[in-house]
Amino acid sequence: METIDILTMDYQHYLTATEIAAIEHEASIMETREAAGIEALKVVQEHRGWVSDESLFAISDLLAVPVAQLEGVATFYNLIYRQPVGQHVIHLCDSIACHLTGLDSVLSAIKEYLNIDYGQTTGDGKFTLLSNACLGSCDKAPAMMIGTAHYQHLTAESAVELLQQLASKGELDD
Ligand code: FES
Repeated sequence: METIDILTMDYQHYLTATEIAAIEHEASIMETREAAGIEALKVVQEHRGWVSDESLFAISDLLAVPVAQLEGVATFYNLIYRQPVGQHVIHLCDSIACHLTGLDSVLSAIKEYLNIDYGQTTGDGKFTLLSNACLGSCDKAPAMMIGTAHYQHLTAESAVELLQQLASKGELDD
């Protein structure tokens, strides 16, 4: 495999034509190319599952935005993954309302079922578990988000049942 020197990155040698077109489209509807940074990160993540250092440098080259600035955006926006993640990324809310309504038992059940801790991915690559600040469902806590779907009023049982369903759906899709 060709080795890429990220410091002399030429985005055309790294990003696909589809990714470039999608990022250019986002840049064209923003006031500045800088403002397209977050959308560019999302485009790459959508195609590659996460945003590697190489991807970050390629986006920097394409948009002419400093890498550090993009890194700042990626760090701030917790739905941008800077490490490989599983097929399903669980964002479990760990803010106050969820703590008061049973987060601990939901978290224990998820950890036990998946046999992973926060920040880890299951051996089969199906699930990654992440903690998240308030998901805006405090009146329906405890809550979690997987992909774009929100799940509320969780119990230890309902959370595990949901993961079982997702795991078996994945097997059917495979
Ligand atoms: S505190 Fe968990 S959704 Fe708001």
